[in-house]
Amino acid sequence: MDLNINSKIKLNNGVEIPLLGLGTWEISDGNTVVNAIRWAISAGYRHFDTATIYGNEKGVGQGIKNAMQECDLKREEIFVTTKLWISSFQYDKALKAFERSLKSLNLDYVDLYLLHWPEPTHRQDAWKALEKIYKDGKARSIGVSNYYQHHLEELLNEADVIPTVNQVELTPYLYLKDLKDFCENHDIRLEAYSPLTKGRKLDDKKLMEVAQKYNKTTAQILIRWDLQHNIIVIPKSSKEEHIIENSQIFDFTLSEEDMSLLNSFDEKLYIGMWNPTLDRWK
Ligand SMILES: NC(=O)c1ccc[n+]([C@@H]2O[C@H](COP(=O)([O-])OP(=O)(O)OC[C@H]3O[C@@H](n4cnc5c(N)ncnc54)[C@H](OP(=O)(O)O)[C@@H]3O)[C@@H](O)[C@H]2O)c1
Repeated sequence: MDLNINSKIKLNNGVEIPLLGLGTWEISDGNTVVNAIRWAISAGYRHFDTATIYGNEKGVGQGIKNAMQECDLKREEIFVTTKLWISSFQYDKALKAFERSLKSLNLDYVDLYLLHWPEPTHRQDAWKALEKIYKDGKARSIGVSNYYQHHLEELLNEADVIPTVNQVELTPYLYLKDLKDFCENHDIRLEAYSPLTKGRKLDDKKLMEVAQKYNKTTAQILIRWDLQHNIIVIPKSSKEEHIIENSQIFDFTLSEEDMSLLNSFDEKLYIGMWNPTLDRWK
């Protein structure tokens, strides 16, 4: 598979998204996130994932502005995702929340706007608001997060615009094969969050054995596994050495045998706060 740091995939509306992005959850606003973006840009990342609830849209916007000035990058060379939090899922509130996000980010548009969680009461209204934002040209693409098959089926029943992306927790330890197949069949791209299991499985013996074989770190193996599944991946780090390490994943290929081995690590390990099997917060 011929992938590099500039590799992008096409979403169902023709917009291209870089396969590798930097996650920014729990990176503090201000200098911490501004520095993380600077290091990421120098390492070649062009895709950044934030959310209103992370409280760092301002710093993410500042980091992007600095990168554009210091590295002479154009806005269209950078891909920015943010997400609508559930407290603003009513239609009018959603439109206002989006405007606040744009203002915090100091941008004229975002590349991807996501519904953060399938909040039961207003999620369909919230999707209508995202459709309006998309039709108004303020988000180049719209999508969802933490949606499982029944949420997607409900949404597709009423939607005018098909989501481009579904961002979910996904690792070899939580290999959502059925959801992956469903999304592929509906031309919705999967994007993996918490791809490093938030660090929990980085010392797992069987993963370490795979990493030793390729002379790579366990974090690099986990990220590469997503890429070879054609899944967008957004590892988070606020440390320069980790940001660089997580981008050095384009000089090796996991064999088919090792991809199958990694797939077999599945143990339904949900680390996040949402339990999709119960359809509620943990
Ligand atoms: N849509 C959603 O509901 C949702 C939920 C969760 C996450 N997300 C998105 O997905 C992104 C990634 O997920 P995540 O932040 O939950 O977890 P993650 O990327 O799986 O793991 C992040 C943790 O791994 C550490 N780390 C990073 N690179 C490392 C390396 N090379 N070696 C060792 N440790 C390393 C980080 O610490 P250091 O910072 O110290 O390197 C941090 O503690 C988030 O930042 C966010 O943008 C979305």
